[in-house]
Amino acid sequence: PRRQYHEKVLDHYSRPRNVGTLDKSDTSVGEGLVGAPACGDVMRLHIKVDPDTQVISDVRFKTFGCGSAIASSSYLTELVRGMTLDQAAKVKNTEIAKELCLPPVKLHCSMLAEDAIKSAINNYYTKNPAVKTTNLAGTAAKLETATAA
Ligand code: FES
Repeated sequence: PRRQYHEKVLDHYSRPRNVGTLDKSDTSVGEGLVGAPACGDVMRLHIKVDPDTQVISDVRFKTFGCGSAIASSSYLTELVRGMTLDQAAKVKNTEIAKELCLPPVKLHCSMLAEDAIKSAINNYYTKNPAVKTTNLAGTAAKLETATAA
C-alpha cells in the first residue's frame, strides 16, 4: 500500500528550507554528520554560531534519505535558527515528530534530526574549546554522551 504522508511533510519535502552547506573550515561553523542504522539514511547539518552570543545565525542541511527525514531536517533548520547552543541542544525528536505528525514507523527519521543538531553543536565545541568551558558544564557533558556512540 502507498504510504500516506501528512501535508506538512509533503510541504517540507517539496520545498525544503535551508538546503546546502556552509564553509566548514570556518571555526564558527559546526558540522553534524549522522546516520540512521535502521535504514542507512544520512543527514549532514552545518550551523554557524555567533561567537559573542552563541546564537545560531545560519544553518544548512543535506539529507540523503526518506521524505520524513528530509522534512525533519528542513523543519529542524527553521526551529534552531536564532536559538542559543544551549537551547538547540535541548531540541527533542518528539517535538519534530509532533509538528510533522510522523507515524511511529517514521519516528527514527526525526531522531536523525535530533542527532544531527547535537553532533553539530558538539563539533562546534570541539573547534572552540574556550566556549565550551564557559558554558554550563551539564550541557557539555550531555552532548559528550549523546555523540559518543
Ligand atoms: Fe530512515 Fe526515514 S526511513 S530516515
